Amino acid sequence: MKDAAPQTIYLKDYTPFGYRIESVDLTFRLHPTATRVISKIVFAPNPEATDKRFFLHGEELELISATVNGDPITPRLVEGGLEADVPEGPFIWEAEVEISPQTNTALEGLYMSNGMYSTQCEAEGFRKITYYPDRPDVMAVFTVRVEGDLPVLLSNGNPVERGAGFAVWHDPWPKPSYLFALVAGELINHPDTFTTKSGREVELNIWVRPGDEDKCAFGMEALKKSMKWDEDTYGREYDLDIFNIVAVDDFNMGAMENKGLNIFNSSCVLTSKETSTDANFERIEGIIAHEYFHNWTGNRITCRDWFQLCLKEGLTVYRDQMFSGDMRSHAVKRIEEVMILRARQFREDNGPLAHPVRPESFVEINNFYTATVYEKGAEIIGMLRRLIGDEAYRKGCDLYFDRHDGQAVTIEDWLKAFEDATGRDLAQFKQWYSQAGTPRLKMEESWDDGTLTLTFTQSTPPTPGQSGKKPQVIPIAVGLISPNGDEVVPTTVLEMTEAQQSFTFEGLGARPVASVLRDFSAPVILEREIDNDTRAFLLAHDTDPFQKWEMGRALAKDTLMSMIVKGTKPSFAYLDAIKSVLVDDGLDPAFRALSLGLPAQDDLAQSLFDAGVTPDPQRIFEAREELRHLLSAHLREVLPALYKENETGAFVPDAEGSGKRSLRLAVLSLLSLRDEGVTARALYKRADNMTEQAGALQALLSAGLGTEELQAFEAQWKGDRLVMDKWFTMQVASAVPETAAQVAETLSRHPAFTNKNPNRFRAVFGALSANHAGFHHESGAAYRLLADQLITLDAINPQITARMSGAFETWKRYDADRQDMIRAELERILATPGLSRDTTEMVSRILA
Ligand code: PHE
Ligand code: ZN
Repeated sequence: MKDAAPQTIYLKDYTPFGYRIESVDLTFRLHPTATRVISKIVFAPNPEATDKRFFLHGEELELISATVNGDPITPRLVEGGLEADVPEGPFIWEAEVEISPQTNTALEGLYMSNGMYSTQCEAEGFRKITYYPDRPDVMAVFTVRVEGDLPVLLSNGNPVERGAGFAVWHDPWPKPSYLFALVAGELINHPDTFTTKSGREVELNIWVRPGDEDKCAFGMEALKKSMKWDEDTYGREYDLDIFNIVAVDDFNMGAMENKGLNIFNSSCVLTSKETSTDANFERIEGIIAHEYFHNWTGNRITCRDWFQLCLKEGLTVYRDQMFSGDMRSHAVKRIEEVMILRARQFREDNGPLAHPVRPESFVEINNFYTATVYEKGAEIIGMLRRLIGDEAYRKGCDLYFDRHDGQAVTIEDWLKAFEDATGRDLAQFKQWYSQAGTPRLKMEESWDDGTLTLTFTQSTPPTPGQSGKKPQVIPIAVGLISPNGDEVVPTTVLEMTEAQQSFTFEGLGARPVASVLRDFSAPVILEREIDNDTRAFLLAHDTDPFQKWEMGRALAKDTLMSMIVKGTKPSFAYLDAIKSVLVDDGLDPAFRALSLGLPAQDDLAQSLFDAGVTPDPQRIFEAREELRHLLSAHLREVLPALYKENETGAFVPDAEGSGKRSLRLAVLSLLSLRDEGVTARALYKRADNMTEQAGALQALLSAGLGTEELQAFEAQWKGDRLVMDKWFTMQVASAVPETAAQVAETLSRHPAFTNKNPNRFRAVFGALSANHAGFHHESGAAYRLLADQLITLDAINPQITARMSGAFETWKRYDADRQDMIRAELERILATPGLSRDTTEMVSRILA
């Protein structure tokens, strides 16, 4: 049955399924175009449900046969699945279906990637494997038999039997269908073991294609560290005899937490110093941790329905962030998190795709794996912890795990555990889950004879479907610095609950400078009257690393904004302040590198728009380039020494080494504007690691050089898909505004380009939409090109198409000509016959 008009699903309509599942037995007879899936499911009536309709989801399945208690039946095929008449008591459902993994380019359900079989079931992919109640609140124990003439046959849980051409797996932990996984192919493992705190020995494997086996060691270490960290920090132990990770080249997302069988986009697990950058190592460590942590936050306790997605994602992101902070540097990690939050989540919150962390309706759930659900969801957990304290946070988590193990639950259940553990009422706090939009927090100060009063006013702009917003609970971390630079009041958390509220600090000597929103204690936009001297003062004296960075960033932004709006030259205040941070040996090199960075063009466009100025992408680009040149000139005396001092010895992908390299490469990028690329070329030739090789090439490209090196890079790496993705990306990312679309278009005709591989498509077209001035070039060429590509891609992979259409979400910021061009492209996409539900929903929301 094919889709009719897309239906909207509402949180308020939730009802439990009419049946429980006692057990699931699946047999897979693998074949590229005709895989048979035989299911035997024991159902029993669910006493808690009133609706007894027996409906099983199913899509793109060919039903071969079905029986109930052994008697053949003819189910009614309906929209999205089937219905059947079933007995009142427990019964056995059996069915056989045929599916075609080879032709599954959507990469959802069972599909083939480079000759191997792999699955992706979250959120609703299991229904493309067999008929089933494919909803997270139906949890069951699975036994899976895989038959196929392949050396490696994997599924969830523990292995029970292995013979010629088959393997049987049993997962004792009840799980929803979205956590099902199967992998089969010619794979090689990188084995290890881990002994849990109660002494259980767990076999660990990372499975990869032959040739990649030397790229697993770092991932394995990250896995073991994650297992240990979850025991030490949350008291959570692993619960099977084996834990498998598989690397797959064609994968829509980063990775997937299937029970006992995590499947990773190969870009998110494979590493070597020759092919991976420091940023790759850091990200991979975090993703491996993230998927592992889902074993408790997501798998043992799962979501009742997909509206509760943040229950597992927000919490698990928060957990992986804390892990990464513990492994590396909390200060640097926090700054990186905030940069990502602002670039992606604030952008989303400010546009037509804004939605609450727990949405109330959706058409296609795949469209809600967003920065809001993930990153803002994580911020909520961080705020909760800041408000109740570390001990109460742990107590609440323990209660949640105890109380809900084996269940599919809601945000209400999560919060109730904390209410019960602390005796606090979290009713107002809960609004963070239901109210979309980024709160604006305005601060005013007054000083009266030793008393400083900070008055805050909060307001949240309207978002689609939500006009009136209520005041939220905002934890505001504040510290006070006296004029001589000493901290007179250490970090204190002010708890704001009203629309407007004042807080006083008494008994102060001289009037101090307030450091506000330390550690970015809430996902809000702080508005305060502050001059550049005060910013420079805080940049020099704040004890909070986030605020220190924030003040440098604010100086840079203010400088760029006045260059753009008023045509002024950058002030020496900014240039000198940055210089003093840069040469301060007492500061972490990673922090100094971050301080040298400039705000992104997209960020400036949003700030201009917020200030009532229509952003001109070309002008933004030019101002930023001008400032880069001025920085390079102003810092010319210190750059060569910094470049030398931060050379690292043998490559180690740890925080220390990567910090030094990031500073050195940031310096190199400025140096390259002055030395015709001599230094960068030398580094390119000598580099024995990808961080420096790609860093040198990038420095050359951003100085308008590097043509030869680009060719050499291709010749050297044409056999490595993941490195070639970097090659594609770098060219599009560094293209000047007037050529960006042309560069992307040419690359899309390169023999190594394919729109069947999401990484490769993103490498070119994700980079195009991230090249702000190129994407928004006045010719409209990039808009047209992206729309053409999305129209073609939709028939192949709707999920990636829908996700990439988000490139247009900011269209209302720009001038009428650009808006007209974008609207025309969006309408053209929407008019495509047979457009997927995913893309239809996204484009309609963007246009609304
Ligand atoms: N649940 C995965 C994660 O966050 C993400 C994912 C969603 C992967 C949907 C595939 C499909 O770890
Ligand atoms: Zn996740």
